[in-house]
Amino acid sequence: MSSTKTDDFMAMKGAGYYSKATTGAKDVMDGAVHLIMEALERMDPPDDGSLFTMSDMGCADGGTSIDMVRDVLSEVRRRCPSRPIQMIYTDLPRNDFSQLFQIVHGLTDIKSYFSDIENLYVYGCGTSFHQIMLPPGSLHIGHSSTASHYISKVPCNISNHVHMVGAEGDERAAFEAQGASDWESMLLNRTQELATGGRLALFNFGIDEEGRYLGHTGGVSMFDTFNEILDELASDGTISRAEYLNTNFPQCYRTTEQFTAPLNDSSNPVYKAGLRTEHVESRVVRCPYARDFESHGDAQKFAREYIPTLRSWSEPSFLSGLSGDRPGQERAAIMDEFYGRYEARVAAAPEGHGMDYVHIYLVCEKV
Ligand SMILES: C[S@@+](CC[C@H](N)C(=O)[O-])C[C@H]1O[C@@H](n2cnc3c(N)ncnc32)[C@H](O)[C@@H]1O
Repeated sequence: MSSTKTDDFMAMKGAGYYSKATTGAKDVMDGAVHLIMEALERMDPPDDGSLFTMSDMGCADGGTSIDMVRDVLSEVRRRCPSRPIQMIYTDLPRNDFSQLFQIVHGLTDIKSYFSDIENLYVYGCGTSFHQIMLPPGSLHIGHSSTASHYISKVPCNISNHVHMVGAEGDERAAFEAQGASDWESMLLNRTQELATGGRLALFNFGIDEEGRYLGHTGGVSMFDTFNEILDELASDGTISRAEYLNTNFPQCYRTTEQFTAPLNDSSNPVYKAGLRTEHVESRVVRCPYARDFESHGDAQKFAREYIPTLRSWSEPSFLSGLSGDRPGQERAAIMDEFYGRYEARVAAAPEGHGMDYVHIYLVCEKV
């Protein structure tokens, strides 16, 4: 396979494409901002003039979280007028941080909070959340949405599918083991970064009690469709069978039990380090494009608007499976063909398509 390390290739589509195409991820955060507000209420931070730090980990271009961050930082400012606020956006080194800063500094059509909050300092950090990112004891609110499913590396090829949700036997077990070990170290690293009384608000892609996950909530399964189309491209010679095999999303979708295991076991290093669950729930947030289709009924329009949201986050994983010997133009043409076929399927038979979001929401306190 080309590269098994996620950091080597992962980045959402840049130049503003991500947040323009991914309004559902914004809906997830906007709909759960009250969980962070309630945590802030419990935290009751003193107005003592010390530095208050919030992070948005795996922020992409920062556009989807902009209103959530505005709400939370405005509340911190209201409660603690004397405290300087530090807002730290983190993502992988290949992320389009320039776009992030353009959004935060109001240079795009997205309305930013930056000039509305006094004594606010915004920074970017390109260190992986699988490592320590911040000084010990310095973090007050650590937030991450729709990012923790990215594992640090692909543990093996999946022979029959492109994603671990379709993997079987040892292959599925290898992804779950990688997911468990990355999740535990992610929580441990964050616990070290948190100040006592600090909170984590992690809105994670996962598998809910009914076995639902992203794009798999009862209609046409999105990951199965990805797999079918890639298999089709391998069968008709557009790509090689090796390229099909080398295409594996570096992701693990975890169940609520898997998310909470390190927090419930008093012998686990995460528990011993002082991290405790305050709140856990699962939710399904409807795909905004499928919802719009219900009212406008235009299949071509739905297909045209829906495919970019898939492309905004999935393309790097498909590109990473292609042979490095292919020139850039050829790789781009294969991607256009791949997403074109998906669009044609949706346009021809739109019913049941959609990317509903399935999240496990966790709020934790460092005691
Ligand atoms: C689907 S996007 C979510 C972006 C944003 N949080 C939202 O909810 O719209 C996932 C983001 O996580 C980032 N990511 C993946 N692995 C990461 C890691 N190890 N450290 C930091 N960011 C990571 C990706 O680069 C990407 O920007």
